[in-house]
Amino acid sequence: MSEGPTGETVVELAKRRGFFFPSSGAYGGVAGFYTYGPEGAALKRHVEDAWRERFSVREDNLELDAPTIMPEPVFEASGHLDTFDDMLVECAECGESHRADHLVEGATGIEDAEALPIPEVETIVREEAIECPACGASLAGEPVTEFNLMFETAIGPGSGSPGYLRPETAQGIFVEFPLLREYARNQLPFGVTQIGRAYRNEISPRRAIVRVRELTQAELELFVDPETDRPDLSGVADTSLPLYSVEAQDGEGGPVEMTLGAAVSEGVLENEWIAYYLGIAAEWYERIGVDMDRFRFRQHLPGERAHYAADCWDAEAEVDGNWIEIAGFAYRGEYDLSKHAEHADEEFTVFRQYDEPVTVERATVDPDMSYLGPEFGGAAAGIAEELARLAERDREAFDGEAVVVTVDGESYEIPTEVTGFAVEEVTESGEHVVPHVVEPSFGVDRTVYTLIDHAYREDEVDDETRRFLAFEPEVAPTFVGVFPLMDRDGMGDRASALARELRESGFSVSYDDSGNIGRRYRRQDEVGTPFGVTVDYESVEDDTVTLRDRDSTRQIRLPSDELVGRLHELRYGRATFADLADEYEELTERAENPTET
Ligand code: GLY
Repeated sequence: MSEGPTGETVVELAKRRGFFFPSSGAYGGVAGFYTYGPEGAALKRHVEDAWRERFSVREDNLELDAPTIMPEPVFEASGHLDTFDDMLVECAECGESHRADHLVEGATGIEDAEALPIPEVETIVREEAIECPACGASLAGEPVTEFNLMFETAIGPGSGSPGYLRPETAQGIFVEFPLLREYARNQLPFGVTQIGRAYRNEISPRRAIVRVRELTQAELELFVDPETDRPDLSGVADTSLPLYSVEAQDGEGGPVEMTLGAAVSEGVLENEWIAYYLGIAAEWYERIGVDMDRFRFRQHLPGERAHYAADCWDAEAEVDGNWIEIAGFAYRGEYDLSKHAEHADEEFTVFRQYDEPVTVERATVDPDMSYLGPEFGGAAAGIAEELARLAERDREAFDGEAVVVTVDGESYEIPTEVTGFAVEEVTESGEHVVPHVVEPSFGVDRTVYTLIDHAYREDEVDDETRRFLAFEPEVAPTFVGVFPLMDRDGMGDRASALARELRESGFSVSYDDSGNIGRRYRRQDEVGTPFGVTVDYESVEDDTVTLRDRDSTRQIRLPSDELVGRLHELRYGRATFADLADEYEELTERAENPTET
């Protein structure tokens, strides 16, 4: 099914040319950790910059940079301590651990075994006679258990203060909501973005940077008033989306291509906020170079959703014959802020002002503490709080002679006359609402992998196979290569002065004067540099340079002092190389052969 390179080709190229490679290789390496080399670090940074421009700056969202280690109560509240698990099966023979759901998917063709209950996974492992991928021993009968994916650490000396490396950057945003709300001037909707590292102790890291234990996320948490806030869909209604809904996954037909407007009106996308973000994400992916013929949005099956998600769609890209998740778009509802409100000491609400003040009846209590204190000692304050809560939710509980409340599992009977219960009319100008959260969450590493895979091309130039990466200029690690034809007769000096001038004009430049010119072009082709400028003998005579286009290998000659302006046009999509080829002299004799001396 894949039209792209194999995984081996990508991984080999990535290591040889400095995109990414396994970390700490000098010490034998450790699975699931990758280092980005010079080309990869630049590519990743450009992806992050493009994401920040689209999802933070252009959407007018706030940006945050929070610590990666957070204390245990955060993850008690968020639910990650209890539920952030994967299914683990261990081989009794060799001790190797495996993702049980992945083994089941490999053996049966089931697409989302993660959604199955554990006993069913155990049954499939037994009935399909699944074997340990490491040693071949049978896994039938081995227990499948839940394995929590968070890395635990101790904060400070001793073990009194456990902490965890955050499993999603999102929590760094949610816990700061009380302050962020102030920075947003208490107005919903507002969004907060964060690009940063997250950590997951994957049972079986795989496919290079696709499934790693330390990853980079680019996340946006949008806080909305669920009653009143709606996205403006007009700018994205005509965007075409390949949608693989739960319903479509039930049939044989695959994803359905439809405009976002049609998907909303036909109810395929029920949540308008998710629809909005799928629209701008599709445009963004196309802009940075994802092949949209190898891309789809897939809705999570009900059992597959994270513990916080009411609805979720993944952006998926096809690489090496597999669909991989590269982003998730979740409607998290009030889950996160209400959980933190329950566990923390702050309010996680926003005040919604009514158009007109309203008069309402309010039930209140004013307990007689001179009775509760002597009678109930340390429990008195808890009883008073519980009486207040009870008055709000059940006035009739105060109709009788006594009221019963439960505090810390203990029941207390309180004479109604000491509760100070009263119903009064109050005028209110608004109410406190718990904002709902809409979350587009992007995996940066997986996006980088997809861009390399989807940019990979092979063609024939001068009877030789050429490999190149057709990166979009915006994300290419280097924008332009500068080469003296030879480092003599003034060509080297002119070329290095030109490289300096281009850098000062804001371009990323690679200067290369070693090896024959064809070989230098090939090196830049393989790291995806869109353009190459060569200073040759003619340049020294008439102050011109040649400009080479990576994809077509065509070359034109132009005056040096027009180069910066023309490169700006190419960089920002105001002209194509073909436009320039119409204006300038095109070279018919091109030096391209890397094996010529
Ligand atoms: N914040 C969503 C995720 O980490 O998957």
